Amino acid sequence: MASDYLWFEGIPFPSVGYRTEDLKSVKNEFVVRDGDVIMLSFPKSGTNWLREIISLIYSKGDPNWIRSVPIWDRSPWLETKAGYEQLQKKEGARIYTSHLPIQLFPKSFFDSKAKMIYLLRNPRDVITSGFYFYRILKVCKYPQTFDQYFEWFLQGNVPFGSWFDHCQGWLQMRGKENFFIITYEELHQDLRTSVEKIFQFLGEKLDSKELNSVLKNVSFKAMQDNKMSNHTLIPDTFMDHSQGQLLRKGVTGDWKRHFTVAQSEAFDKIYREKMVGLPPGLCPWG
Ligand code: A3P
Repeated sequence: MASDYLWFEGIPFPSVGYRTEDLKSVKNEFVVRDGDVIMLSFPKSGTNWLREIISLIYSKGDPNWIRSVPIWDRSPWLETKAGYEQLQKKEGARIYTSHLPIQLFPKSFFDSKAKMIYLLRNPRDVITSGFYFYRILKVCKYPQTFDQYFEWFLQGNVPFGSWFDHCQGWLQMRGKENFFIITYEELHQDLRTSVEKIFQFLGEKLDSKELNSVLKNVSFKAMQDNKMSNHTLIPDTFMDHSQGQLLRKGVTGDWKRHFTVAQSEAFDKIYREKMVGLPPGLCPWG
């Protein structure tokens, strides 16, 4: 059954898998290590695509790891109870994923050399993707209609709060050596160049055979077919697999089939107001 949120410092979280005490510890006590690699995004930005890319970069294109270990064990969620415990136990450098807004992220990160990749997506497609996803995920509020979800999104009444605040918060980090920004749209437009940029940022090297294998294994179809990545391993009690899947369409611009003209105009206006101050081109879909 769909349920309401867990609230922490004014931010809504899914009601299962997250605990106030962990969120407090993540922020105040978790020690980010210099070698850590962190993928950061607002939900529905293509996070799992990036996770698969990173996994394959570290396995040099060898698909054995992505086909034998669930995606959440390869790059645990920092803010969930399970992920937090797993990361605490792991020695050495770690790869992990987070949707946290900047003010809830471990304080220790800001003095570390850990590398962070911030993934952005056109927020109109983030809304569209979220509408369908929260109709199958049973641990968040269930949107009855697209209109309802659209309003929730604008109010920040969706998991991890306001997209605008999330983005404005994290983009303060732009220009820092250990902070790399990439968009879902860039991945779509030129996956090869995007993957090259990512592994160069991480200080990794891949030859052309390895790179080709990464590209092949992160295609929408390959991920849909990989049960370690397509989220079908999540029990039915948490996700209603009969109603849809995380890898839903995997396209850009699907929002155009969902927004009314009035919604599109309202969104443009709010976007301009909320994203004021960002350099042109940083969020190219403004
Ligand atoms: P859609 O719902 O628009 O299809 P997240 O991983 O942050 O939850 O984001 C999920 C979105 O990323 C979904 O968007 C999903 O289809 C898309 N996605 C995941 N893997 C992808 C891939 N390999 N290629 C393209 N899109 C992908």
